[in-house]
Amino acid sequence: MTLIFAHRGSAGTHPENTMSAFNEAARVGAEGIETDVQLSKDGAVVIIHDEKLDRTTNASGYVKDRTLQELKTFHASFGFKGKWGKEKIPTLEELLIWLNRNQMWCNIELKNTFFLYPGLEEKVIQLVRAYKMEERIIISSFNHYSLVNCHQLAPEVQTAPLYRDGLYMPWVYAKAIGASAIHPSIRAAPDIIIQACLRMGMPVRPYTINKTDEMKRLFELGCSAIITDYPKEAIRVRKGLQVN
Ligand code: G3P
Ligand code: CA
Repeated sequence: MTLIFAHRGSAGTHPENTMSAFNEAARVGAEGIETDVQLSKDGAVVIIHDEKLDRTTNASGYVKDRTLQELKTFHASFGFKGKWGKEKIPTLEELLIWLNRNQMWCNIELKNTFFLYPGLEEKVIQLVRAYKMEERIIISSFNHYSLVNCHQLAPEVQTAPLYRDGLYMPWVYAKAIGASAIHPSIRAAPDIIIQACLRMGMPVRPYTINKTDEMKRLFELGCSAIITDYPKEAIRVRKGLQVN
C-alpha cells in the first residue's frame, strides 16, 4: 500500500509545521509526517520551513538570528490567522515526544542548503537516538553531502535525497550516497522512473502530491509513499481505489 505522509503536517488545512498540523495528520490517519528543521541562534533544533520568519510567523528576519526563547514568543499560525488560534514554533524534541505517543513515520528534512547550519546533523541524530526513534525516522535534504554525513554518523537511520530535476538511474545514485530511498519532486518522477526504482528495491516518495489525478496515478503504480499537504483527501482517494 502507498503510505501517506502529511507535508509539514497537514499544511493544506492547518498552519504548517505546527503541532496542530501534526495532530491533524494523526487524526485523519496519515501513516507519516514530513517536517523541516533549522538551528536557532543558540543551537536549538527548531521546526520551520523558511530560513526567514516572515511568511509563517508574526516576526521577521532569519531563524538563525533568534534564540529559542525569542522564537517561542512568535505566533506560527500566521497564514491561518483567526482560523486555528495561536501556535508556537515547535522544537524537534517536542515533536519526538509527540511521535513517541503514536506509531507514525517522520521524515525530517534538514533545511541546510541556504545556511549550512554546522552541527545540525549531529544534533538531529543525537535527539533521534535519545528518543529511540531510529526506526521511524527518515532524514532527507537537498544537501546530499549532509545526507552522507548523517549516514556516516548514524547508519541505522534512513536517509533519502530530495531533488527537483531528473536524475539518471536515481536508484544507483541513492545507493552510492548510502540512502535507502529517493524523494523526488513530482516533476522528476515519471512512471518509468518509479517503476524502475521499485523493481530495484529502492522506495520512492514523491512530493508534493496535492492533485487527485496525481494521487491516483501514484497509488495505482504502487509508489512507496506520497508526501501531500492534504492527507485527509489522499486517504479518501486511496480508499476509493482500494489498492493494496
Ligand atoms: O520533503 C519534500 C518537500 O518538503 C521538499 O520541499 O520546499 O516543501 O521543503 P519543501
Ligand atoms: Ca520540506
